[in-house]
Amino acid sequence: MSLGSLPRRVTVVEVGPRDGLQNEAAPVTVDDRVSFCNRLLDAGLKVVEVGAFVSPRWVPQMAGSDEVVRRVGRRPGAKTPVLVPNRQGFEQARQAGVKEIAVFTAASETFNRKNINATIDESFQRFAEFVPEAAKDGFWVRGYVSTCFGCPYEGQVKPEKVAEVARRLLEAGCHEISIGDTIGVGVPSQVTDVMGRLKEVVPARALAVHFHDTRGTALANVLAALQSGIATVDSSAGGLGGCPYAPGASGNLATEDLLYMLHGMGIETGVDLAQVAAASRAIAPRLGHPLPSRYLQACR
Ligand code: HMG
Ligand code: MG
Repeated sequence: MSLGSLPRRVTVVEVGPRDGLQNEAAPVTVDDRVSFCNRLLDAGLKVVEVGAFVSPRWVPQMAGSDEVVRRVGRRPGAKTPVLVPNRQGFEQARQAGVKEIAVFTAASETFNRKNINATIDESFQRFAEFVPEAAKDGFWVRGYVSTCFGCPYEGQVKPEKVAEVARRLLEAGCHEISIGDTIGVGVPSQVTDVMGRLKEVVPARALAVHFHDTRGTALANVLAALQSGIATVDSSAGGLGGCPYAPGASGNLATEDLLYMLHGMGIETGVDLAQVAAASRAIAPRLGHPLPSRYLQACR
């Protein structure tokens, strides 16, 4: 059966060391975070989000990201971005030797206020204070749009709003825009609709998708995104993850589950699934709970 035209190769953006660990109750040491990142890079992942330069009062799990960045170092051909919410975070990231950053805002006002204490407009005012300069200085800049398929506080989110925020991120200087289903409520028909509208304002090659598997629709949503011409997919080793400011947000789509599906469909990623699984199994004992990845559960 034909599934339509799908990309031959997909770039997997690994967000486990950031989106995954930011939501863990048990503190994970810098040593363990560094080994986790190194194992994921060894597995062939070409983009690994290694930490966040956010307020440690807001997200204590990401404290020490400067040390993680320094110790992981640079890998030829790989990007190791960090999340930065404002100029202060950008300066700290630059000092640590970061070359790739990710800024984040949302398609819903209430979530944005809870997450970064700013309206959507205010978040763009913050980005204007450092994103153009970062892009000019050769930084690779990713922009996240959260709550694109539903908001934990406001419910429905209009696709036009998602497209407007994504367009503004592109205009602000972002090279790639990641479209997030922060609380895992989206379904494939909605993905097709939202991607269709997005492609009118952002080229498909500059779009990524970021699904949380809260209601089990993440892989189906990936397939809908691939059919819409999207070839960059975020995922988290082991299925770790969630946002501390999104009640009900459970794990991200697991990298292992994503790789299993893509490789089974003949889509190349350049990533070794067994090595990703080994990285997840190595961090699991530090977390005190089983990992949600279906692949890991099936292949114990
Ligand atoms: P604020 O309290 O409004 O900030 O927080 P402020 O500017 O008033 O400053 C208050 C204090 O924070 C000051 O310190 C600043 O120096 C400090 P004090 O003088 O009181 O000692 N501060 C910082 N410290 C470290 N790093 C910084 C920084 N900036 C200010 N960069 C702020 C505003 C944005 C800082 C805060 O709200 C914050 O850090 N939020 C981060 C929340 C977060 O990380 N959420 C999770 C990531 S988003 C996500 O998971 C979604 C995503 O995965 C996609 C999806 O799934 O949808 C990306
Ligand atoms: Mg997320």
